[in-house]
This record gives sequence, C-alpha cells and structure tokens, in this order.
Amino acid sequence: MATLVFEGETKIFLEEFHDYSGPGRKHAGFYNPVLEIDRDLNVLFCRYIAKKGAKKFLDGLASSGIRGIRIAREVDGDIEMHINDCNPKSYEIIKKNVEINGVSAYVYNKHFCSVVQEKKYDYIDIDPYGSPIPFLSCIFKALKKLTYISITATDTATLCGAFDKACIRKYQAIPLKKHSVKEAGLRILIGYMARQAGSFDYSFKPLIGYSYGHFFRVYAKIEKGARKSNENIKNVGWVGWKNGWKLFEYDELDKSFIAGPLWIGKIYDKEVIDEISQIVDKKKLNKKEKLKKMLAHFKEEESLPPLYYETRYIAKEIKTAQPKIERLIKKLKNKGYKAGKTHFMSDAFKTDAPYDEIKRLFG
Ligand SMILES: C[S@@+](CC[C@H](N)C(=O)[O-])C[C@H]1O[C@@H](n2cnc3c(N)ncnc32)[C@H](O)[C@@H]1O
Repeated sequence: MATLVFEGETKIFLEEFHDYSGPGRKHAGFYNPVLEIDRDLNVLFCRYIAKKGAKKFLDGLASSGIRGIRIAREVDGDIEMHINDCNPKSYEIIKKNVEINGVSAYVYNKHFCSVVQEKKYDYIDIDPYGSPIPFLSCIFKALKKLTYISITATDTATLCGAFDKACIRKYQAIPLKKHSVKEAGLRILIGYMARQAGSFDYSFKPLIGYSYGHFFRVYAKIEKGARKSNENIKNVGWVGWKNGWKLFEYDELDKSFIAGPLWIGKIYDKEVIDEISQIVDKKKLNKKEKLKKMLAHFKEEESLPPLYYETRYIAKEIKTAQPKIERLIKKLKNKGYKAGKTHFMSDAFKTDAPYDEIKRLFG
C-alpha cells in the first residue's frame, strides 16, 4: 500500500511499505526502516563534512531517494545534491520525492559507475543490496584529491566467516570464525578498501565504522598521494589468537592461526564523533536516544584496542558463570588496564589486559 514515511525533517512517498527487520526484499523505491538510524547519522556526518568544505554530494544508489533528499533538506550551507538509481521506476519515485520535499537536486537514472565517471564529487554514498564490491572498483578513477565516502555492506555473513570461501574470493581475506567475528568482518571491509585505495595511490581513513542489525557501514576519507598511501597501508595487517588477541604486520606473522588481511588501525576519528555528538541534540530525529547511545559507545571504543572478548566463550573455557560486564570492566580498570564495552555485542568487552589476567579477574 502507498504510504508516506517521516524521517528527520523529510517525508518520503513509498509505493509499498515493508516493516523489514533484516535486509528486506529488492523492489523499486526500496525503503528499509532498520537503516533510519544510519540515515540520521549520515545527515550529521554530511553536516560535519559540509562545514569542512564538501559541496557536491552524490547518493549513488538511492532507491526512494531518502538519503539524498534528507542530506539536501537537513544539511545547512551551499551544497549541491545529486541522486541516482538505475531502476527507471525508482527514478520516477525519487523525482516525486524531491518535489514533495521542495528540495533542489539533480536526479539521474544511470548506472553508478557512469555517474562517477562523468562528474567528481566531494561525497559519494554507496548503499547497495548485499556487497558493495561491484561499485568500488570504478570509484578510484573518479575521485578528487580528497573525497568523503560512505559504504554499506549487508553481506555480513560472508564477512563474519559464515561463508569463508566467499570472503576469500570477494574480499581476498580470511575471516574469523568464532570470537569477535563482527568487528573482524568490519575490519576486513575497511582493509579491503584501504588495499584498493593503495593500488591507486590513495589513502583510505575510516572516520566511523560500525555494525548495526544486518549491516556494516563505514564513513571514510579518501586522499590522493603515494606517501600518505604508504603510511595508510601500515594499518592493514593480520590478527591471530595466541593467549589473547595480538596484532601482527605481515612479516611478523606465524601463518598458522591467522585472519586477514584486515584493518588493524583505528576505526573512529575522535574529532568527527565529538562534532557529531554536539549537534545531535539540536536535531529532530526519531531515533535520537538510540543514536546518542551509539555515539557514546563509539567515543568509548575510540580509545580501546581492536577486537573484543566474548564472556560466553571465556566462561565456557574456564568453566564458570558469565560475570556482569560492568563489574569485570571495573576490575580491569582498577588493575590499571584499559577496558570498556563495545557496540558490537552486549556480552563482550574490550581490554588491553593479557588473557591470563582476564581469566583471573573473571570470577
Ligand atoms: C539498498 S537500495 C538503496 C537504499 C537507499 N540508499 C536507502 O537509504 O533507502 C539499493 C539501490 O541500488 C540500485 N542499484 C543497483 N545497482 C545499481 C547500479 N549499478 N547503478 C545504480 N543503481 C543501482 C537499486 O535499484 C536499489 O534501488
């Protein structure tokens, strides 16, 4: 049934509304309510980059047009919005939604790769069904010296090790299979982007990377320059389990227990999180409280090491009950270690404590 949905300051006409709780089913004018929280974050991120000078924005896989239209309506300043979808019916829906919202936007009915070959953008949004890989190879010829980008991946089962062969084939990386699979999956996606960027003499710096429901999303900055790219690629490495998590560069690697290559550097930029956290309160958003909680998690995780420990596995190994996460974190901090919760899982924590110490403090 045709309906209007309201997000932020934007209303969107849909020919059909489906209350999906997962990835949903492909159709013209596709709209997934689960991603509203990301579209909120997307608007705040675009406000941040507009303040930094970004002017020309592309919503490359737009469907109903909701992302691009929200950016056009809710980001202040002198920006130019371009919205594209290759589906002719989606194209008509986007034009209608642009009109309903009274925003100014260029609307295209083209293949993503031809749009990015024709014009250069300061911000490119890639929000596909499933894997973003088909859309990544064409962007590097089309970038400015500095381009902001955001990428969604909903092929999380592949990245998280349920289909390891597909992960090796598509992302050229070995996924983790048990502990910390969500964060490792996200880091494989970021690592893949950094390697692709490196091959075209670009650096790829994640500013916010996170997991929510059925998707991963990465907001990043891509910059031209071989020197920057050389520095950047040092953040691509391997992880393995050896009495606790360890990070390895390639040459240090014992190749018998590995996952990677993946991103081993930071996945949050403190300045971006702080700026966005300051403006979130001033915005009209349906998911404001959830988003604030998420941003608080990112802020905490920014200072913590990569990967997390899941209490259920440790409890099983040492044959004890799962402790309260808050109490365990307090104990670790009292001993002088870094420790905190993670947005990836509610029964997991991050710490720089050695694994033997974690087990000692577990009871
Ligand atoms: C997941 S939907 C986008 C959802 C939308 N960004 C949102 O936030 O609601 C993916 C869209 O990509 C479009 N698409 C798929 N392949 C494309 C291509 N090569 N070029 C342009 N659009 C494409 C599909 O028609 C579909 O509308």
